[in-house]
This record gives sequence, C-alpha cells and structure tokens, in this order.
Amino acid sequence: MSVLDLLPLIEARSARVGVIGLGYVGLPVACILADNGFHVTGVDINAQKVETINRGQSPIGGEEPGVAELVARVVAAGRLRASTAVTDLAEAHIVLICVDTPVEPDTHLPLYRGLRGALTSLGPVLRDGALVIIESTIAPGTISGVVIPALEEASGKKAGVDFFVGHCPERVTPGRLIQNLVTMSRAVGGQTPDVAKVMVALYSTYVTGELDPTDPLTAEVVKTAENSYRDVQIAFANELAVVCETLGADVYAVRELLNKSPGRAMLMPGAGVGGHCIPKDPWLLIANARDQVEARLIPAARAVNDRMPEHMVTLTERALAKHNVSLQGARIAVLGYAFREDTDDDRESPSRYFVEALERCGATAIVHDPHVPAYQRPLEEVVTNADAAVFMVAHRAYQNIDLEWLRGALRHPVVVDGRNVVDVNAAASAGLTYIGVGRRLL
Ligand SMILES: NC(=O)c1ccc[n+]([C@@H]2O[C@H](COP(=O)([O-])OP(=O)(O)OC[C@H]3O[C@@H](n4cnc5c(N)ncnc54)[C@H](O)[C@@H]3O)[C@@H](O)[C@H]2O)c1
Repeated sequence: MSVLDLLPLIEARSARVGVIGLGYVGLPVACILADNGFHVTGVDINAQKVETINRGQSPIGGEEPGVAELVARVVAAGRLRASTAVTDLAEAHIVLICVDTPVEPDTHLPLYRGLRGALTSLGPVLRDGALVIIESTIAPGTISGVVIPALEEASGKKAGVDFFVGHCPERVTPGRLIQNLVTMSRAVGGQTPDVAKVMVALYSTYVTGELDPTDPLTAEVVKTAENSYRDVQIAFANELAVVCETLGADVYAVRELLNKSPGRAMLMPGAGVGGHCIPKDPWLLIANARDQVEARLIPAARAVNDRMPEHMVTLTERALAKHNVSLQGARIAVLGYAFREDTDDDRESPSRYFVEALERCGATAIVHDPHVPAYQRPLEEVVTNADAAVFMVAHRAYQNIDLEWLRGALRHPVVVDGRNVVDVNAAASAGLTYIGVGRRLL
C-alpha cells in the first residue's frame, strides 16, 4: 500500500474527505474542499453546530466574508454533509483533524481532550491507506508522541504502512478565514517525503500561497514558534507603552519614528492578547522541552501581555480620579468583548480578565459587543450614566463614534482607550478626559 495511490484520487476529486472539528478552522476548510469538487463529511461533537451546517447556515458570527455563502452553496450542492458520528468517516481516504487544542490554565500543558477523542474514535473506522492530517496547532513532538501511538492503538494498524500521517498547521485569523486559507503559504509536514507530496497535491487544489514540504516536527515548531514570535513582539510593544506612560512620552509617536530605523517593525500595544492561538501557542512550543530548557523570554512575554487587562484597570482608576470618582462603586461601560475586532470569538478575551479585575475592585462592568451574542444590546443603554467608557476592542462599530454624543451620555466624561480607537485631539475637543495605553499619564 502506497500513499502515492491517493494522488490520482485527489487529481480526479474522487478522494473522499473527512474533517473532524467544524470550528473557525475546520468549517471553512471543509467548505473550500467541497467547493473544489471533493465530497466532504464534517464531524463535530457539537450537535447544534452540525444541525446548523446541515441547514446550510454558518454557525460562525462576526464579519466573516464569504463563509455564510460558501456553507449555503456546498450544502445545497450536496458536497458537504455534517455529522456527529465519526463512523461516517469509514469511507474517507483523507481525514483532516481541526479540533481545538487548549492548554491547562495552571500548568500551561496541552489539554488534548478533543484531539485524543478524535483519534480514538477515528481509529476503529480508519480505512486502509488513509491519510490523516492534523491541522490543529500542537506542541512539537505531538505527532510522534501522541497522534501516531493513539491512532495505531485505536486502529490496530501501523502508521507508514497501513495509514499515513501528516501535520499542516493552519495560519488563519478570524475575520479573514477564507482569504487566509486560500492565499497563505503553508508548512506541509509529511511523515515521509511521499506523504508530504500527497499533502501538497491536496492543498494545491485550493491554496495559492507557497506549499513547503517538510517533516511533521518542523511543521509543529514553525507554527507554535510563529505565534510565540508575535506574542514576544506584542509584549515588547506593551512594555514600551507602559514605560512611555511613566516617562511622559507617547508610544504611538515613538513607534512611528522607531520604525523608520532599518529592520524595525514594532507592533501596536494594546489592552491584552486573546483568542484561541497566541495566548496558548507559546506554551505549546515549550511544552515538551521545558524539563530540559529553562525558557525565559516566552513565559516573560506571556506575563507582560497577561498583565495588560489589569493595567487597563489602573488607567481607568487614574482617569476617574481626575473627576474625584472612586473605582469602587463605579459603573464602567466596557466596549468590546471579542478577542479582536469584528469577530464573535471571545476565547481568552482580555475583556473577560478586565471585567473580573474591575469587579474585584468593587466596580460594576456593563459590557457591549456588536458581535458577541451575550452582549449585543444598544450602545446607548450601556454608556448612559456610566462613569467611564473603556474601549477594549477596535470594532468597526466604535471607529466613528460620536464623541459629543458619548460625552453627553456618560455620567462623567471619562474615556479609557485600550486600542487606539479614539483620536486624542478629537477627545479633547469633545471635552473628554482621555487616557490610553501608551499615552502620557494624566
Ligand atoms: N481560530 C483560529 O484563528 C486558528 C488559527 C490557526 C490555527 N488554529 C488552530 O486550529 C485548531 C482549531 O481551532 P478553532 O478556532 O477552529 O477551534 P474551534 O473551537 O472553533 O473548533 C473546534 C471544533 O472541534 C470540535 N471538537 C472538539 N473535539 C472534538 C472531537 N473529539 N470530535 C469532533 N469534534 C470535536 C468542537 O466542538 C469545535 O466545534 C486549534 O488547534 C487552533 O489552535 C486556530
């Protein structure tokens, strides 16, 4: 049995494809493959999601260009069917696993409940000669230490002989899922060069970016390292912002000039880092090395970024003090709860930690978010009679907010800006007391 036997099936689009995990990553991938002519079966343990998809609707909210239309099209064409039963993948030649891979909150070690569940349920129905590709982000060493042993045990088959394994991590960002899936380059890690060759053939059916064949370990390190790199860069921006506040400098003016120096590309500071990737991928990177290597920079960056929601509380307290208002007992309008602009994804949202910190100080938080269902309510209801408005997310809905109106609605004219949403001069003209991450302290 050779993995290369899959090449003509991919070419003819007669390879049957299974996708396990129909979230922000798995659903668009399943849809794109279906739209490219494959018959795709998507499996998820969330029965409500499965029902929604089979009705031709997307369970993903926020501004996600193209996803709803694509789901409607491929379901109507009969090319994508969702199911809660992994047994429906018994005919699949290729199975992509796109389940969530969080870390344990205290130890920061990988929590592979979803991944192990997917592997142990897939094993018994895995067809001979199948290719299993892990798209989820995993700690380096997981393909050899978890995926292959779990699949071999559950299937009674031998990896590299009876079935084949690869790792092709996703690089998408909510808000740009389809565009990223199609255009971004990919590290394509095959168990052998032939496996990588077949994976490249599969991804070539819809990816216009470069496809770089490699081995699974390299792909595991690349993915977790690229997000760790970003976390470290954001931490630098955040630390510099706090330093600038204390020195009386403006971090945005500093950043603009600093980036004129060759090779510098400082990122924007902000109210914290969230989502299902950047806060946990640095921990995944070091998970299997940390007993031998004392990683210092990566945990330090995590600590700096995790501190930002607390720092937002300090800024809020300072701004309120200008109006002789104590944080204790204050009513704070929190604008934005998603982890980034114009998505409904609120996993590891900095706003959650900000709200918890406010409540520990005896303040009341009233949250607004145009995309997160629990907080979709009129903005006016949230800001009216609040002691301060705090911008935690740069949603488009907040970009052109009428500052005169905001001042009139608030009980005290206090604005705290964690995302550089409000123009400082416009805030001053509107008579607002403005304080922001990286701005001169009041
Ligand atoms: N969200 C992103 O922007 C993004 C970007 C790049 C990489 N990733 C990585 O992709 C992976 C998936 O992320 P996501 O954001 O799509 O997660 P998600 O939570 O949106 O989707 C995961 C889905 O898997 C399902 N699931 C979990 N265990 C299962 C099982 N045993 N069987 C069947 N279904 C199961 C869940 O019900 C859920 O619907 C993660 O490893 C993540 O780090 C995510």
